[in-house]
Parts: sequence; C-alpha cells; structure tokens
Amino acid sequence: MLSVLLSGCGGKMGGVISSNIAQRKNMEIIAGVDPNPAVECTFPVFTGIADFNGQADVIIDFSHPAALASLLEYSVNTGTPAVLATTGYSSAQIDEIKKAAAKTALFFTANMSLGINLLVSLAKKAAAVLSGFDIEIIEAHHNQKIDAPSGTAIMLADSISEVLPEPCRYVYDRHSQRKKRDKREIGLHAVRGGSIVGEHEILFAGDDEVVTLTHKAYSKNIFAVGSINAAAFLAGKAPGLYDMSDLVANA
Ligand SMILES: NC(=O)c1ccc[n+]([C@@H]2O[C@H](COP(=O)([O-])OP(=O)(O)OC[C@H]3O[C@@H](n4cnc5c(N)ncnc54)[C@H](O)[C@@H]3O)[C@@H](O)[C@H]2O)c1
Repeated sequence: MLSVLLSGCGGKMGGVISSNIAQRKNMEIIAGVDPNPAVECTFPVFTGIADFNGQADVIIDFSHPAALASLLEYSVNTGTPAVLATTGYSSAQIDEIKKAAAKTALFFTANMSLGINLLVSLAKKAAAVLSGFDIEIIEAHHNQKIDAPSGTAIMLADSISEVLPEPCRYVYDRHSQRKKRDKREIGLHAVRGGSIVGEHEILFAGDDEVVTLTHKAYSKNIFAVGSINAAAFLAGKAPGLYDMSDLVANA
C-alpha cells in the first residue's frame, strides 16, 4: 500500500486527488497539509508540513509557490520523494528545485496530462519544420487562476525555444509596445473566465498558411490521474529530477 502526504489538500485539485485515491486499493492518503484551518478531510490535516511527524512513501503537492521552501526542506531531510505539480514558481524557485533534486527524488512538470505532454513533442516537431513561421501561444483558464500566463504555456514556449535556430524572447503584452512583430519572439496570451479547466493553442502563422495545435482539458481528473501515476513511479526512486518523459519511457 503506497502512503501519500497530500500538500494543498483543501484546494480544488486536493479534492479531486482525494476522491481519486479513495477508489484505489493500492494507495492511501495518510495525511494532508493546508494552512487553511477550515479545511476538513477524512485524514489528519496539518497547517505546515514540518508538523507532520509520520512517514509517507511520497508527497503530492498541488498548493501554492509559497509552500515550496518548506516542502523541499522536508523532502530532503526525510528522503520523501515529492511530485511537484504547483505552478507559478519564479526562476529562483526552479533553481532551488534543481538543487534539491541532487539530494531527493522530485517529479516536476507544469502539466500532469498525457495529452499536453504529447502536445509538447508535436509543437517541437512543428517548430523545427515550420521554419520562419510566427509562433503565438494562447491559453484559457477559469477565473480563479492566479498565475498568468499558465505554467503550461511557459513550458510549451520553453520547449519550442529549444528547437529554434536562434534564441527568442517572450512577449506578454503587445499593448505596451507600438512596433511590428519581431521574428525572434513568441507571443503568450492569457484568457481568464468562467470555469474553463485549461485550453492551450499554439499558432504557427506563415505566409498564406496557418497551423494550429490545440489541447483542451475537460476535467481536472486528467491532472489527478497523471500526478497519482507520477507518485507511484517516483516512490523509492533515487534522487534526481524526473518528469513526464521519464514516466512515459517507463510505461
Ligand atoms: N501541474 C498540473 O498539471 C496542474 C494542474 C492543475 C493545477 N495545478 C496547479 O496546482 C496548484 C493548486 O491548484 P488548485 O486549483 O487546487 O488551487 P486552489 O487554490 O483550489 O488550492 C490550493 C490549496 O493550497 C493551499 N495552500 C496555500 N498555501 C499553502 C502552503 N504553503 N502549503 C500547503 N497548502 C497551501 C490553499 O489553502 C488551498 O487549499 C496551482 O498552482 C495550479 O496552477 C497544476
């Protein structure tokens, strides 16, 4: 039986993961962490991870970037692997994740869905083939999302940049600059509204033709399933930084 410590257990994703794990026979949540004192779960909830003195096989975190420092400290000190699914980390925080991965097993991806991870490889292929096309990424999410553009949009832009012949810069706000589009840029645009779970479109605009690649998430369950599979994969692994490509390679 794989024991899970769920960080951010009182949130929307925390709820989806709790109900998903409750239906599994080989996995259980032994405790949760959430600073919101009003959170009620079927397992004990701690307001800080340092207050948990049990031992879980793996941590699943869907919380807030503010949780990262204590989470990494706990993971390194106790040797508990952690699936980091929270988005909105600063580049300094991403460096901290990479540093900690030398001492503990961490699984980090801005998007836990299999479809999005396929989209990443399709986008890289399209960017390599559609030489000279202008690339824009448009994402849409529900009106409660805090970070913009989404971690997934940035992950897509980073993956595309890797295969472009020249470094490009990201443009988030065309309103502030009155000038023509540069070839060496990727535009990132965030739409917020209603209950949209998550949509990402990559537009490759050339002369007289446009190619678009789109992914639409219809339920948060896809992220829960991805993170639970990642947790099962990560438990017992040696220190290192793992991502969806490792999971897919081991499927
Ligand atoms: N990687 C993915 O595939 C994926 C998918 C969906 C959501 N997310 C990300 O997961 C995070 C949570 O999403 P959500 O929709 O559940 O948000 P939410 O706002 O509904 O829930 C966040 C929860 O985290 C708690 N929290 C805040 N600070 C904390 C801390 N220091 N320690 C522990 N818990 C803390 C909050 O009290 C809240 O209960 C966001 O960053 C979101 O972008 C990632």
